[in-house]
Amino acid sequence: MKERLDKYIASQTALSRKDASRAIRDKRVTVNGTVSRASDAKVNTDTDVIALDGQPLTYRRYVYYLMNKPAGVVSATEDKTERTVIDLLPPDLRRDGIFPAGRLDKDTTGLLILTDDGDYAHRMLSPKKHVNKTYIATLDREPDENISEAFRAGVTLSDGTVCQPGQAVCLGNNRVEVTIHEGKYHQVKRMFAALGFKVVSLERIRIGALTLDRELSPGDIRVLTGEEATLVFSEKS
Ligand code: URA
Repeated sequence: MKERLDKYIASQTALSRKDASRAIRDKRVTVNGTVSRASDAKVNTDTDVIALDGQPLTYRRYVYYLMNKPAGVVSATEDKTERTVIDLLPPDLRRDGIFPAGRLDKDTTGLLILTDDGDYAHRMLSPKKHVNKTYIATLDREPDENISEAFRAGVTLSDGTVCQPGQAVCLGNNRVEVTIHEGKYHQVKRMFAALGFKVVSLERIRIGALTLDRELSPGDIRVLTGEEATLVFSEKS
């Protein structure tokens, strides 16, 4: 694929497009070993070797990150008043165009994928693709097994919306493991509200067959391999 040099640098490093242009002007960038001073030079992403400050860049079309989202940050790329999940990216993982693939509420914790691959996010989030998302909900009181049956049948929300069938497994200590494949606004909290329960805390632990990495503390982020990223489209075995 052919791409402008400044865009290539901005997409593969932590530099903004403006800083990438400046780095090019400052002779910090080489293309196949030769300094290039033209931001609009077209480079071949498959064959050209681009280096910044003497370090060759390994071209990655898209990136996929796994975050253990902490409470208190919003799942957005920018916000006037709140800290966003993008603000938590360490400098070496910053690139143009990264966004959270799906939203978790500000107070919801756990597995969140960040990527710059719009098709991937669309596929993961489309209700038609039936990608399962699993949460641990802690409720205000102990539910009984009726809850599992209600989820299996499809919960009707207070506004009359009927949710597609899901799964709910009681774990004890007011905790329920919930699996749904839709992503309606506040869906898990609204499903429990419709059944007479309040969700005290909510953590997402799995998407498809990709499980929250317990080595990650809240707020930590790690790069997913392409293979790991595609686990979201497999069923948990
Ligand atoms: N359902 C909710 O109610 N909140 C979330 O953050 C995710 C699913």
